[in-house]
Amino acid sequence: MRSLRILSCGGAHPKRMVTNDDLAKIVDTSDEWITTRTGIKSRYFCSEGETANSMAIEAASVALKRSGVDPAEIGCIVTATISGDYATPSISCMIQKELGLPEEIPVLDVSAACSGFIYALEVARGLLESTGGRYALVTGCEQLSKLLDMTDRSTCVLFGDGAGSCLVEAFEDEQSEQKKFVTSLGAKGDMAITAEGVGTAKTRIQMDGKEVFRFAVSTIPKCIQDVLEKSNQVIDEIDWIVCHQANARIIEHCIKKMKAPAEKFYMNLDHYGNTSGASIPMALNEMYEQGLLIPGQNLILVGFGAGLTWGGAFLTYKGVDR
Ligand code: ACO
Repeated sequence: MRSLRILSCGGAHPKRMVTNDDLAKIVDTSDEWITTRTGIKSRYFCSEGETANSMAIEAASVALKRSGVDPAEIGCIVTATISGDYATPSISCMIQKELGLPEEIPVLDVSAACSGFIYALEVARGLLESTGGRYALVTGCEQLSKLLDMTDRSTCVLFGDGAGSCLVEAFEDEQSEQKKFVTSLGAKGDMAITAEGVGTAKTRIQMDGKEVFRFAVSTIPKCIQDVLEKSNQVIDEIDWIVCHQANARIIEHCIKKMKAPAEKFYMNLDHYGNTSGASIPMALNEMYEQGLLIPGQNLILVGFGAGLTWGGAFLTYKGVDR
């Protein structure tokens, strides 16, 4: 089976930044509580005219443009989301339409909450493999602000809106066993995080925060270890570990538990909050824009969240000439 690597990244977020102090004006909370419990200082919420579709289209458009790949060569479009504008058509279909991408390719959205981007990468690999395509646009996009109960301080301070996208390439590489794309995916049916579906009177995120915290700190280290074993590598050979950006305390807890080098764990949740399926590709895009992603680097990506689901991936950043 062919492997997968990242060529380019793109991202988008709404214009309106909402600080912890802004939230303290509408619910009984404080910058001090939110910062010490989560590490979050601000997040973005969509305003008039900004939607999941508009953010995803912008992020995918930037990734496509930066890659230099001919749009006619895109072999599939996969988007991770739990907060699309429509139950149908999918966000991916809107990306296809707006970017003028080919019609004879698979185009779909994936629902695996905060692990969604990792699932989407594996789905894209499988689709490229079965169709013989070479390039995929894989996006994570969430407009979680519309799923928030703004009277529930235990959830409304945690989440934000945004989108990130990667243009990935399927490739043959018989020489380098160690550079192969591998994933570790799993789920256990659990109602610790819920949001009621289409047709219900109220669709709002509800969460047993403590339960999710316990799940995350036991799952992330196991997932990273599994990805390392499957890719036949040790942590020293990994350049960056990009975890789902839910809570700084979760990531710090895992670093301590694993005795792992903290500087390899990228974090940007302080200014985006938890953007669920968008958080990993948004982090990758920010790393790209800051020049932190260097061609040939080894990456581990780890998602965890509602489902409960988890997903880890090893892949390389190939990049393109800038
Ligand atoms: N401001 C002030 N006080 C608050 C707030 C707030 N925003 N929210 C809760 N509190 C209060 C509670 O009411 C409680 O008060 P009490 O002791 O008087 O009852 C106290 O703070 C402690 O609340 P806890 O829920 O015990 O706080 P905890 O330390 O567990 O932190 C948190 C909560 C931040 C949610 C943490 O549990 C966490 O990060 N969990 C993981 C969440 C996560 O990672 N989700 C990712 C997946 S999301 C997805 O998949 C869509």
